[in-house]
Amino acid sequence: MEDRDYLQFIHKVRDYTSIDLSQYKEAQMKRRLTTLRTKKGYSTFAAFFEAMTKDKELFYEFLDRMTINVSEFWRNPNRWEVLERRFLPEMLQRSKRLKCWSAACSTGEEPYTLAMILAEHGALASSTLIASDIDEGALEKAKRAVYSDRSIRDVPALYLNKYYRQDNLTYSIVDSLKPHIRFQKQNLLTDPFESGFDLIVCRNVMIYFTEEAKHLLYGKFAQALKPGGILFVGSTEQIFSPGQYGLEPADTFFYRKQEA
Ligand SMILES: C[S@@+](CC[C@H](N)C(=O)[O-])C[C@H]1O[C@@H](n2cnc3c(N)ncnc32)[C@H](O)[C@@H]1O
Repeated sequence: MEDRDYLQFIHKVRDYTSIDLSQYKEAQMKRRLTTLRTKKGYSTFAAFFEAMTKDKELFYEFLDRMTINVSEFWRNPNRWEVLERRFLPEMLQRSKRLKCWSAACSTGEEPYTLAMILAEHGALASSTLIASDIDEGALEKAKRAVYSDRSIRDVPALYLNKYYRQDNLTYSIVDSLKPHIRFQKQNLLTDPFESGFDLIVCRNVMIYFTEEAKHLLYGKFAQALKPGGILFVGSTEQIFSPGQYGLEPADTFFYRKQEA
């Protein structure tokens, strides 16, 4: 009975939003949504869904709960160092006009990290940088680009001095970086991808997806990369048998699309 209620909720949410909750690990997702539903005083998912369709605030709370937006600048700093010291110079030797994508960028910490690194290497203005997420609220925050001190703790001093403005307890990204990032709403599981990327950064979202959804996504990412292009994943997200997607390990949490 309880399971049917949740399964029907999944179907209704899919029709209403095109978000397919069945592609996320069920136990985790169900636990998070049950906590919210109970907190809001609904005894069934059917009643919760009805309320959500009438109350925008509740709908946004649901979105917030299902999308976990936690992020940080330079998350896992030694991996960004590998990107900056090893892969970026390699890419820039081939071309100054890079096409990069921060997929599931949340509130913007990741694409701004990438923008700063590209800027330091003189490649931001000539490159294309796309940043996407399913959550419009997160994208709005990303565009505002105002952060607390918690998210800047791993930012190297050089970057902190050059690309942030501190106002009391907040840190804002300098305006010069913003026009170089194209923020857009996108559902990785259902929307089509652009192609020809030199670099795709997709970190800390794959962990929420089922094995089937991950498999689909790795295939789509591999298709979207140029031969020789790099996929940078999160620090708990190594790909098993990357060869099946035409990818090869290039460093820990980095994969390279095989040359044809
Ligand atoms: C934990 S954050 C990761 C942020 C950043 N990539 C990082 O590693 O710091 C996960 C993000 O994935 C987004 N997300 C979840 N499902 C998605 C989907 N199907 N398509 C696109 N983004 C999704 C969420 O909205 C959230 O902003």
